[in-house]
Amino acid sequence: MGNKTPCSVVSGFIPALIITAAITAGTVHNVVAAPPVVPGDGFKWKDGAEVYGKVCGYCHEPHAGTQVGPKIRGRELPPAYIRAIVRNGNRAMPSFRASEIDDASLAKLAEYVSGK
Ligand code: HEC
Repeated sequence: MGNKTPCSVVSGFIPALIITAAITAGTVHNVVAAPPVVPGDGFKWKDGAEVYGKVCGYCHEPHAGTQVGPKIRGRELPPAYIRAIVRNGNRAMPSFRASEIDDASLAKLAEYVSGK
């Protein structure tokens, strides 16, 4: 009990050595990752129904089994309100950026959800 060996000195020294060796060998340079492939880059949604089916329906479709949000389709919610909720989120409702749902698709989606 209470018999401590100076381990901390050794364990701090070894990682420092490894990092130094890696930098010297130039491997740190090679580790730099390629830019991530942004989902939706160059991708276009077909129409509002597709976005709803693939994104919103997961939480909003009464028959999905994963419904956590209220039914939204065909309730004649104002499209501007739907667009605002999608962009900004609201409590448990996540927000979606233009890189995920572009403005044109969001407009179509809002019309589709509104059901007017
Ligand atoms: C991860 C689950 C989830 C996804 C995906 C999701 N929502 Fe929601 N949404 C919710 C929840 C939960 C609420 C209720 C939020 C609250 O009031 O606390 C909500 C609320 C809403 C509301 C407000 C409804 C009302 O009665 O005022 C709208 C509009 C809406 N969502 C639209 C959408 C659209 C359009 C999509 C697809 C782009 C979408 N949501 C995707 C979970 C989700």
